[in-house]
Amino acid sequence: MNNQDIINEVRRHNDIVDVISEKIPLEKRGKNYFGVCPFHDDTNPSMSVSREKQIYTCFSCHATGNVFTFLMNYEHKEFNQVLSDLASRVGITLKGYKTKKISTKYDEWYKIYNLANKYYQNNLLTKEGESAREYLKNRNIDELTIKEFEIGYSLKNRDDLTRLLTTKGYSIDLLNKIGLSSENHDIYNSRLMFPLHDLNGKVIGFSGRIITNSKQNKYLNTKETELFKKGKLLYHYHIARDEARVKKSVIIMEGFMDIIRASTIGIKNTVATMGTALTKDHIKEIKRLSNNIILCFDGDEAGVKATLTAGELFKSEGIEVKVIMLKEDDDPDTYILKNGKEAFQGLLNNAIYYSDFKIKNLSRNRNFTSSEEKSNYIHEVLEEASKINDSIRTEIILKDLAKKFEIGYNTLEKSFKELVNTKEIKKEVNTTPKNVQPKKKDKYQKASLNIIYYMLNKQDIIDMVESEHLVFPTEDLRALESEIVYFYHKYGFINEADFYTYLTPKGELLNLLNDVLEMDLKTSLTKEELLDYFKVIREYNLKKTIANLEEKIKNESDPLRQVKYAEEIRKLRIGDVLKW
Ligand code: UTP
Ligand code: MN
Repeated sequence: MNNQDIINEVRRHNDIVDVISEKIPLEKRGKNYFGVCPFHDDTNPSMSVSREKQIYTCFSCHATGNVFTFLMNYEHKEFNQVLSDLASRVGITLKGYKTKKISTKYDEWYKIYNLANKYYQNNLLTKEGESAREYLKNRNIDELTIKEFEIGYSLKNRDDLTRLLTTKGYSIDLLNKIGLSSENHDIYNSRLMFPLHDLNGKVIGFSGRIITNSKQNKYLNTKETELFKKGKLLYHYHIARDEARVKKSVIIMEGFMDIIRASTIGIKNTVATMGTALTKDHIKEIKRLSNNIILCFDGDEAGVKATLTAGELFKSEGIEVKVIMLKEDDDPDTYILKNGKEAFQGLLNNAIYYSDFKIKNLSRNRNFTSSEEKSNYIHEVLEEASKINDSIRTEIILKDLAKKFEIGYNTLEKSFKELVNTKEIKKEVNTTPKNVQPKKKDKYQKASLNIIYYMLNKQDIIDMVESEHLVFPTEDLRALESEIVYFYHKYGFINEADFYTYLTPKGELLNLLNDVLEMDLKTSLTKEELLDYFKVIREYNLKKTIANLEEKIKNESDPLRQVKYAEEIRKLRIGDVLKW
């Protein structure tokens, strides 16, 4: 079997409905299955999965593809990885499959980071690494954890790594570019080294921690490169990805020592930013892991602030997170060290909703001596409560307030309802219907896409398109058509799902194929309907030829030639009438 045969076989044995429903719940409606699309922010079941066609389509974000592309996007994996996962899922061996590695310029970067990572880890075991080992021991980081997090050490000598890498043939320019050297010197000296992985688990940089009391920055991160962007990277994400699915939640912490500590007590569904605020990109990636998100930041003032900022940001993205607030002097690392696993697990189980945290926080540093102060506070709480979409929770909040300030419940409830009403009116006024304009396609494109759709479903239509020498209006349509014809002749059959796999490495044409697959037309068409589409395409070609000739006439100074072109146009028009 050649590669394509193997791929097709693996695909055919992995039913798309079964595979996707192992990841997200699907519900049968009519002949298709529906679920919440994991590729955009949504709570509605806008993704349809067809068992018959073995493809999925999201009506909202237009994600389309087959079982391979679903897993590639869902699990951030490369094609070959997904292929091997699916093969072992159904017990197919990939014997005879030849991996064509698509090499990128980043392969070299990854190689270098891996070398550096090994080198740092090895240093930790040397004589010079002794102080670092001592430091780790004092912090209660054992050998297993050191291995698991690939913790290393950079030596005092200012050019060890640079020399090692240049003798291996890597240029100083490249080492500077990827953030390991500056001029001829190493970036990191005498620091504990933590490799940073991208979302797929590849090393793309380092963070180095000082281990002595010094005025230097505590942590020094690799500079931003084409691969390492602080606004996108989440520490530990590649591990949290699988853990979050098992635990059905993900915990966000501030520092990576917190992550490492939590891991030692078996809590591994954790991620951290690189000491920066959460960005929308971070949130997008976190939402892919789980909708049950717990913030567990440091207990200091900065941690409270960070919790508020992150909570609001998640809320604006449609998610109410949960919150654990530690005591002033703690971070998750120190808390776990002092109190142990059970206690921390208890905190997780008792995490409170973000809006409850916010309301609690509103009364911090306030003393309710004047009635004005009390009333301001009550209004702020009501405002927060009005954003909660759960009448039981709001009732609890109102009851607490009534008790705390000895006000009648009915009075509070009345103010609350007024607030909610005015908000709803405002909302109605502000939500003028959005005109979601579908991508406009002209009739020629439509006809072309229709024909291509049926070429993928009915082989005799491929034969007709070929024998009629149909020429599609645009280059990409023609390219797609010739790929279909090529596939069909090479493999002797065609269907959407296998063709999709075949086309995936060819990049540009995929968007067009997505447009085709999204159409979801009726299963059969009559010969008349098909010929109508053909006619539309011919009409286009005719118009185009005539337009070209007219252009020639305009640019032609020789009147004889002008007449000749005009005659050609006339014939074309007559021919057209005769033909149809
Ligand atoms: P913390 O100071 O809370 O770090 O900063 P930590 O994880 O508790 O570290 P230890 O326990 O003191 O060793 C939180 C995060 O901010 C970033 C790091 O990513 C750190 O994990 N940070 C902090 C820096 O990038 N540079 C710094 O100088 C300090
Ligand atoms: Mn900390």
